[in-house]
Amino acid sequence: MTKRIRKAVFPVAGLGTRFLPATKAVPKEMLTVVDRPVIQHVVDEARAAGIEHFVFVTGRGKGAIEDHFDIHFELDRTLADRGKTKELEVLKAALPDAGQTSFTRQQAPLGLGHAVWCARDIIGDEPFALLLPDMLHFGKEPCLAGMIDAHGRHGGNIVAVYEVPDSETHQYGIVGIRDEKGEMAITQMVEKPAKGTAPSNLAISGRYILDPSIFDILATQERGAGGEIQLTDAMITLAKSAPFYAHRFDGTIYDTGTKLGFMMANVAYGLAREDLGPAFKVELDKLLGL
Ligand code: UTP
Repeated sequence: MTKRIRKAVFPVAGLGTRFLPATKAVPKEMLTVVDRPVIQHVVDEARAAGIEHFVFVTGRGKGAIEDHFDIHFELDRTLADRGKTKELEVLKAALPDAGQTSFTRQQAPLGLGHAVWCARDIIGDEPFALLLPDMLHFGKEPCLAGMIDAHGRHGGNIVAVYEVPDSETHQYGIVGIRDEKGEMAITQMVEKPAKGTAPSNLAISGRYILDPSIFDILATQERGAGGEIQLTDAMITLAKSAPFYAHRFDGTIYDTGTKLGFMMANVAYGLAREDLGPAFKVELDKLLGL
């Protein structure tokens, strides 16, 4: 019997250097895709998958994220006084319930592995979801919900993957797989393999289900690439003693931590919106001379 996935970790302590100057005073997770911050899109994905507790690993200058997931009393009052019930409902729908969020500070941006380790006490002894907030998963089926279904079937650790062109595998974390009763068991994980050596073209996309034993490994994990404590290094160690599965995401991944990825996400999410899409398309067509 596998334990249900109730908690999710959102590491939001990175510096966002690839998106300067926008991220000098505004956390990159608060940049908006259409009308909501990137972090809201990812929290919504977790809520849709049944997550009940949202753990944010934050850092200096990231206070806006905490405020975003809190009630703004004066704003609510002003909207109510003005009869703006629709806007009030939008705010309410975006908010987890009281007691469903936790915030802990990473103190220094020592890498993704270190950020995850900072959540150890809040997660405790249960498997948990990890969502990298800058990676938006755009598709018909929400990514994390599919992973939680898979976890209910076979347990273990699960890493979401997506296909990238063979010529680009050297830019990603890549997994090698073999078929195990219709599921993709991971046989290998390589961070940015040298050209021509990748075991497949399946790249790690930024959604994980992990066993809490990852925390013990992270506690003693040496610094890896870029002088940072790398999650992939800890997963490679864990994979020696615990099963890892790949979950293929059928959709498009937008890395909103890059300028191009962020712009493309706005176009894709904007076009998909029932209320805005048609008018947006007319304007885009005009702009492109179509
Ligand atoms: P990234 O490497 O994409 O984020 O980490 P970054 O470091 O903010 O970006 P650049 O490279 O400087 O532009 C993936 C996720 O992990 C978090 C980031 O906030 C991001 O959501 N992260 C990264 C941390 O929380 N702490 C870290 O030390 C590093």
